[in-house]
Amino acid sequence: MSDRPDPADRPAGVDAAEPLPGGFIAEVLRVGDSVRRTAPADDDFVAALLAHLARTDLAPRHLGTDEHGRQVLSYVEGRVPWRDREDPAYFADPALVALAGLIRRLHDACAGSPLAGTAETVCHGDLSPKNTVYRDTPGGPLPIVFLDWDRAGPGRRIEDVAFAGWHWAELGDGADPAELARRCALLCDAYEGRAEGLLPRAELLGVMLDQIEGTWRGISAGADRDEPGMRRLRAAGAVETVRGWHDWLRRHRPTVEAALDLA
Ligand SMILES: Nc1ncnc2c1ncn2[C@@H]1O[C@H](COP(=O)(O)OP(=O)(O)O)[C@@H](O)[C@H]1O
Ligand SMILES: [Mg+2]
Repeated sequence: MSDRPDPADRPAGVDAAEPLPGGFIAEVLRVGDSVRRTAPADDDFVAALLAHLARTDLAPRHLGTDEHGRQVLSYVEGRVPWRDREDPAYFADPALVALAGLIRRLHDACAGSPLAGTAETVCHGDLSPKNTVYRDTPGGPLPIVFLDWDRAGPGRRIEDVAFAGWHWAELGDGADPAELARRCALLCDAYEGRAEGLLPRAELLGVMLDQIEGTWRGISAGADRDEPGMRRLRAAGAVETVRGWHDWLRRHRPTVEAALDLA
């Protein structure tokens, strides 16, 4: 006999809690139409940001805090590509163009708001396929909502664009620097639309390199401090992988910048 509780034992009207895959940090459970997750460090800022974004449909709704202090969000229907590179359609050009449009809408919605303070806008700070819900369309799956706003804060437009640029690309041995440049150009063009010059593209590679270095150093330092999420990431080899991306991008920076017309 299994030790697992039989779902039929639940009191009537109480939804089952289903763990959601795709996260390394928070414990994330789906309960009916809601999601319960470990609250972000700056819960008040994230709650205010999600309330501010409610009219945009770019983020789940913040529904409050439950009796265990967990953040309660609306469950967003769709597909999250949380397995690495599970389907190339998630990374295809139409998805990249839609992604740029979503990031632009986020930044435009926050620029000049009290949430941005004196910064250019509010950045999501952790834009990756694992934190993005896609919906199927006749033209393939397109991103529609960003999840996981724990690292959001005032920042510059280029920061989220650079972050998405390397998370939606292949880096490291075997990857093609010209393809990275092509994808970055597509992302920037689609983000800017008619607002040419909105992004200081000459800074793109420098921002990316700083982010990639900050990522592996952050995982390493967090694991040394015994943070469970960071320990799991380090045990899964994330420090070596991300460090390898950093070395690769540093080596190929001139090629990428030349292809981007920045050299
Ligand atoms: N509001 C939501 N709607 C649908 N799926 C969600 C929602 N929040 C989280 N998820 C799923 O749970 C996974 C982990 O959640 P996330 O908020 O990214 O936590 P972590 O900080 O652990 O990365 C996501 O990759 C996604 O698959
Ligand atoms: Mg996440």
